[in-house]
Amino acid sequence: MSNFPDGFLWGGATAANQYEGAYLEDGKTMSPMDILPDLAHGRKEALDHPIHALGHLYDFYPSHTSIDGYHHWKEDLELLAGMGFNIYRMSISWSRIFPRPDMDQPNEAGLAYYDELIRRARELGMQILVTINHFDTPMWAVKRNNGWADRCMIDEYLKFAGTLFKRYKNQVRYWITFNEINMLLHYPLFGAGLDLTNDPNPTRTKYQAAHNQLVASAKAVTLGHSINPRFMIGSMIAGICNYAYSSCPDDVLAVQRTMRESYFFPDVQARGSYPLYAQRFLEKNNICLDIAEGDIDALRDTVDFVSFSYYSSGVITCDPRIKAHKTSANFASSFSDAVDNPYLSASDWGWVIDPVGLRITMNELYDRYNKPIFIAENGLGAKDIITDDGKVHDSYRIDYYRDHIEQMGLAIQDGVECLGYTTWGPIDLISVSTGQMSKRYGFIYVDRDDNGNGTNERFIKDSYLWYKKVIASNGADIA
Ligand code: BG6
Repeated sequence: MSNFPDGFLWGGATAANQYEGAYLEDGKTMSPMDILPDLAHGRKEALDHPIHALGHLYDFYPSHTSIDGYHHWKEDLELLAGMGFNIYRMSISWSRIFPRPDMDQPNEAGLAYYDELIRRARELGMQILVTINHFDTPMWAVKRNNGWADRCMIDEYLKFAGTLFKRYKNQVRYWITFNEINMLLHYPLFGAGLDLTNDPNPTRTKYQAAHNQLVASAKAVTLGHSINPRFMIGSMIAGICNYAYSSCPDDVLAVQRTMRESYFFPDVQARGSYPLYAQRFLEKNNICLDIAEGDIDALRDTVDFVSFSYYSSGVITCDPRIKAHKTSANFASSFSDAVDNPYLSASDWGWVIDPVGLRITMNELYDRYNKPIFIAENGLGAKDIITDDGKVHDSYRIDYYRDHIEQMGLAIQDGVECLGYTTWGPIDLISVSTGQMSKRYGFIYVDRDDNGNGTNERFIKDSYLWYKKVIASNGADIA
């Protein structure tokens, strides 16, 4: 028996800057991803100092070609539809549509690509969920005005969002305003186009950028609904489930503090005002934000659904001796003081695997906001081996998904209203954190390596046939 409601949305998610390549084609200009080498060649430093990185010539830029989705999208959509997807989450590259600041009209050549892609996806039976900004603030904004530090980005964003809302008014129903908006605190370049190199008060700049994005997000909700009242416009965070290391109240308090860093964003987007704890945090840090007249009113327009990505969980402690065992590779711990969890194993990249954490997160978010939720990303980055006859036996990925889908079903049984589930990287693509190809998430293997060698030919993995079966049974058959 299926735990999933009729009409549940099953699919997968990609992002323009990790999928398309063609980084300067048809009038596009650069995105932050386009100035970065991979991890082994200075990605971390470049992420921290993007303006410096811009002036530096690296040997290889993974996103410039990526998996060449710009020229393979037809084949890719058919492969995705072949799994029975009824939703495809994608993003639209801002610098393809508005390659320069202050443009009155969008770049028609850039829009033409998405026109065709969206038309074909709909024909193949897929709903579309567009992420308006998936780690993709154009480089012109980074250079000109330090990205979202400047509130001029609110109008630039609304011009971009408004163009998409009008253009795809009848084709796209689901929208996310910003991918993992809370990540701007940890990945300021990806999240908000910020270079904090010489910034005397980076915390203030990040929260100013956050404010500007929250206002832009709320205004986009108002604008979108005025164009099509049926639009479902959602928020999104990187959803991390954190546990207290011990029953020591200080550990529990530390978890609450850490979770609030992320909840701050949907608290504003789904409840329509700044939570008191955020106001106190800003005061305590002597941060006085530039809040314009009308901003607080604008924030009142709240999202239709709350979405999140889910990969991992963390364990938090205040005890310095235990902190010494910090799992540096873990996704959750790299943004906080999280330590090892003896009950859980981890991926090849050290990301802790915790399916029950997904159920907990779903319940938490639904309890907190009482709005439908959407799991916008979930997946396993792993080292795949392709056999001579073009097969990938990725039983570990099937295990991962089985366990997470089971927990998602249980959360729905708990009472959570969940609209859908888009797996991350239904097709192998460039990793955001490392720039690698070898960190593969897909049900579809792409012949391309970390140095850009390969034919870009696509092969289906064992997990492809498995997910197809799951979708066909509406989540009942996960064996
Ligand atoms: C999410 C992002 O943080 O995690 C995706 O929204 C990203 O863009 C995904 O690809 C997985 O992370 P990574 O670093 O393994 O690509």
